[in-house]
Amino acid sequence: MFIREQIGHLTHRLRRNRRSPAIRSLIQETLLTPSDLIHPFFLLEGSRKKEPIASMPGIERLSLDLLLSQAKHLHQQGVRAIGLFPSIDKSLKTANGEEAWNPDGLTPRAISAIKDALPSLCIIADVALDPYTSHGHDGIASPSGEILNDETLDCLCRMALTLADAGVDFVAPSDMMDGRVGAIRKTLDASGFTKTGILSYSIKYASSLYAPFRDALHSHLAFGDKKTYQMDPANRREAMLEALLDEEEGADILMVKPATLYLDVIAKLREETHKPIAAYHVSGEYAMVMAAHEKGYLDAEKVFYETLLSIKRAGADMIFTYAGPIVLPMLSF
Ligand code: PBG
Repeated sequence: MFIREQIGHLTHRLRRNRRSPAIRSLIQETLLTPSDLIHPFFLLEGSRKKEPIASMPGIERLSLDLLLSQAKHLHQQGVRAIGLFPSIDKSLKTANGEEAWNPDGLTPRAISAIKDALPSLCIIADVALDPYTSHGHDGIASPSGEILNDETLDCLCRMALTLADAGVDFVAPSDMMDGRVGAIRKTLDASGFTKTGILSYSIKYASSLYAPFRDALHSHLAFGDKKTYQMDPANRREAMLEALLDEEEGADILMVKPATLYLDVIAKLREETHKPIAAYHVSGEYAMVMAAHEKGYLDAEKVFYETLLSIKRAGADMIFTYAGPIVLPMLSF
C-alpha cells in the first residue's frame, strides 16, 4: 500500500507522450522518407536480362531496359536517386581496367539513357577501377602487387570525366586513393563540368561486409586485400582526417561506409562537418537480415526500417541501401 501511494504522486510520466499513434508521431524526432534513400542497381549488358544474386535475395543484376522499369517504379514511390554499378563481361576486364573510361562503355550508355527516360532522377556512379580490373583491386597494381596511388589517380580522373560527359549528377570515388577528390575536382572543372558533384566515399573501412557486392560484380580479389587503401575498422580519429581532407579537396557530400557497425563514426562526423553526410548500408548488412528473414527468425521489413532510422538518427542525411523496395511500403511521403 505504501509503495502504491508513492507511485501515485509521480510527476514525470514519459508514457503520456506514447499513449497513441497520433501523439507518438508528434514527438517523433527522426523521420525516414523515400527521398532519403539511394537505390543501388547492378547493371548488365544486353536486354531483357536479369540474374539473381544468391547472397543478396531480392536483388538482381539487370539489363538497362529492366533497370529502367524498376527505377521508374521506385521513382513513383518517392525515391529520387539511384547508384549505378556495372557488372561487366569478364572479357572486358584488364589489369589496368581501361574499360572504366570507355565513353561507349556500359555505364556511360546507361547514364544517358536513364537521363533521357527519367530526367528527374539523380544518378550517382562509382569511380573506382574494381569492376573493370582482372585482379579486382580498385587501382593499378605494380608487378609485386602494390596498389599504386598516383598512377591510379590518372585513371580515376579519366573515368570521372567519362561519367560526367555522359550526364551523371554525382561521381562517387570509392577507391580510397589519397588526393583523388582534389584531382577529380580539378579535372572536371578544367573540362567545364563545374556542375557535376562529388559524393566521396570519404570514410570507407576495409570491411568483411562487402562480400555479396563482390559476388554481384564478379569482382573477387585475385591477390591480397584492400587494407592498404581502405581504413582499419579500429580507427575513428583517422576517419575524421579522411573526411575533412575530402571536404577541403572539394567533396560535396561525405560518405561513411558501412553504416550500422559505424554509427559512432557517422555521429562524430556530424559534429565535425557542415557538409551533407551519406551512409552506405552495404550488401552484407542487407544479406544478414535477409538470411535471418528467410529462416523466419525476424521480419526484414521491420528490421530494415529500424536500421535505416538508426542511421539517420546517427546523423546521415541520405542512405545507399538495397532495402528500399522492402521498406518503402512503411514510409509515408
Ligand atoms: C567498389 C565498391 C565496393 C562497394 C561499393 N563500391 C566494394 C569494395 O570496395 O570492395 C561495396 C558496396 C556494398 O557492399 O554494398 N570500390
